[in-house]
Amino acid sequence: MIERTLILIKPDAVQRGIAGEILARFERTGLKIVGIKMVKASQELAKKHYTDALIPIVGNKTKKDWDAAGIKHTETPEQIGTMIVNSIRQMLTNHPVIALCLEGIQAVENVRKIVGSTGCKDALPGTIRGDYGHVSLGYASIKKRGIANLIHASGNPQEAQQEITLWFAPHELQTYKSAHDEHILHLNDW
Ligand code: CDP
Ligand code: MG
Repeated sequence: MIERTLILIKPDAVQRGIAGEILARFERTGLKIVGIKMVKASQELAKKHYTDALIPIVGNKTKKDWDAAGIKHTETPEQIGTMIVNSIRQMLTNHPVIALCLEGIQAVENVRKIVGSTGCKDALPGTIRGDYGHVSLGYASIKKRGIANLIHASGNPQEAQQEITLWFAPHELQTYKSAHDEHILHLNDW
């Protein structure tokens, strides 16, 4: 049940100077930092992180948002997805991100909950995207841009494993005991 997950504090959050606030939100829940660094991604890394498999996923998600907002369009989900994935790869290569590997109990799901929905407009207050952003997927994509949604977090444990390997070399990840680990380890004594 103890998992590791990959988080990127995206360029918009780094440029706004709220990286520390975002990191604090994870830390205060007891998630443990096991890897942290600032990276300006190569094109190769950006393409491996945002793979072609993402094209239909973001294309369909955006089409739904456009349809719900009554935005008329002729592009197919594939075309929309290609435009967005190219844009977000560009964002990753043009600006630095802070890459984090966090560890904790069911960390992947827990982190996703703290991050909130992809479109900040739909993300609940209390989540990072809900509290710090208001841009909708629809608005960003009619401007032919990727959305400024502050943060990336692995979607499931398999994605987490692949993404951690992509962003961190094994020697960049640390193993140590946190205060939370001490509490969890000593649960039986209570
Ligand atoms: O990040 P999350 O897992 O919530 O969403 P995703 O469906 O895996 O999409 C990956 C990323 O694509 C999002 O976080 C956005 O950065 C980007 N995206 C976008 O910029 N505009 C859209 N209309 C849809 C996705
Ligand atoms: Mg995702």
